[in-house]
Amino acid sequence: MGGWRKGRGHGMKMAKRSVLVFAAFTPFLAATAFSGATPAAENQIVFYGQKSRAQRFRHDGPAAPEGPAGSFGTRALPGQEAMTGYDSLTNGYLKQGPAYDTINEDNLRPLRSYNEGRFVFEEVESVEKGLGPTYNAQSCSACHQSVATGGASQVAEHRTGRVVDGQFFESLGGSLIQSRATHPEIVERVSPEDDVRTFRMSTNALGDGYVECIADSTLTAIQMNQPTEVRGSTASVPVLEGDGTPRFGRFGWKDQHASLVSFAGDAYLNEMGITNPLFPDENTSSGLFVGFGTIYDPTPEPEDEGTDITAFGNFLRSTKAPSRGSITDDAIAGEALFDQVGCAVCHVASIRTAAAGTKINGNSFTVPHALGSMTIHPYSDFLLHDIGTGDGIPILPQPEYATTAPQIRTAPLWGLRTRNRLMHDGLSFTRQEAIARHAGQASGAVAAYSALTSDQQTQVIAFLDSL
Ligand code: HEC
Ligand code: HEC
Repeated sequence: MGGWRKGRGHGMKMAKRSVLVFAAFTPFLAATAFSGATPAAENQIVFYGQKSRAQRFRHDGPAAPEGPAGSFGTRALPGQEAMTGYDSLTNGYLKQGPAYDTINEDNLRPLRSYNEGRFVFEEVESVEKGLGPTYNAQSCSACHQSVATGGASQVAEHRTGRVVDGQFFESLGGSLIQSRATHPEIVERVSPEDDVRTFRMSTNALGDGYVECIADSTLTAIQMNQPTEVRGSTASVPVLEGDGTPRFGRFGWKDQHASLVSFAGDAYLNEMGITNPLFPDENTSSGLFVGFGTIYDPTPEPEDEGTDITAFGNFLRSTKAPSRGSITDDAIAGEALFDQVGCAVCHVASIRTAAAGTKINGNSFTVPHALGSMTIHPYSDFLLHDIGTGDGIPILPQPEYATTAPQIRTAPLWGLRTRNRLMHDGLSFTRQEAIARHAGQASGAVAAYSALTSDQQTQVIAFLDSL
């Protein structure tokens, strides 16, 4: 099987690591979850990934404590508001640094400032520096750029696989089909038998430093607050730079990663073909080895020693959250209706990050003052739900993960006004079409929305257009 060479953030595969998927907790478990205890082992689906290469990752054990649950809700929370804006200015985590247009490869110190991190994030890579042999684009900002570096874009990836005897198998070389290559004969092709297919849109990463600083306990509290028929699931995934310590995933359409540096390592390999300490093995071309030692790859691994992926993480941690558009009377009335019909159960309006000084990511990162105890308005619970739109591709191809095939992370609605291809596959052209596609766990909310008068529905759309 061609499996196990690609990561799961962008590539979806998770060699060498395990994932614990906590299905939606039963009400019985709610009390223990709130008190911070680890859920009983029999209520976890525990998967042990292929261990050959990375015994150094912890495969089980409790997540590191991350402090008490922060508050969340539909109204303004007490405390400081996170910084917002599309102005390419730091939120205060890294200093701004030298004027952006004075930075070049000779004076660059990637870990020093926001502007230098942005430079690396925008840097167009070459084959000599490790690009390819199979890849999707030449820079992070090729896909994360609108309306500021780190944002979303219309670029879609495609993923494929097949179901045999009820079990999902990824395409040879991984479910992510790299769309480009450095040589014509190694461009990946989709096999006709691989009829489980989807597009996945490039997500927004602006403000993700705040999201990273949400304590696991806060996500559990949000989950427990949801009525059982709407309750989301958490996926517990290893923080690669944190010795594999499990933490709740919150990034990507499937909550595949919990930390920005892990996601960046995954992206550097799977989007650009650049190996790094967290993802040291070159991608294949549909299962064929094309890495260093073949005519396709002149650069030994790792092609990044770790500086760049740390710079990507720190740059994203310094980005401001998406800002609101003008908040009209209709938008205010629309938000009240959004709340009333139940959209806000999943699209949670306000979440407070953990306090500065809290150790997260398996103790590999300490919440800084710029990101601690901040209120954000992501309009997401960062949990997985089945709303009938699932793309059929589970977090991992093992049968234990079959339940994640139909699930998608509640799309954060912040920055919605900057996007016009909606839902994970980008196939909804309007807000109305996106709402109409909600079924499954969102059936109640959509029925209540449909029962609104057309004036009221227009107000809900006005609210969405202000995000
Ligand atoms: C070819 C387009 C493309 C390139 C290049 C790319 N990304 Fe992404 N990015 C995506 C897509 C698509 C997703 C959603 C993937 C998924 O969930 O399956 C994503 C998701 C993310 C996320 C998660 C954001 C969230 O909150 O969901 C982060 C962080 C991220 N990318 C960082 C990076 C970094 C760092 C780089 C450069 C090393 C990079 N990306 C390069 C397309 C791209
Ligand atoms: C049960 C949880 C849940 C409820 C309730 C819910 N949503 Fe969603 N919403 C999701 C999920 C999950 C997605 C992503 C689905 C996908 O991409 O396939 C989503 C996506 C969206 C999107 C597209 C965002 C984007 O960036 O593409 C919009 C708009 C949206 N929801 C609005 C609403 C509105 C309005 C309501 C109330 C009528 C609502 N949602 C109720 C879970 C929910």
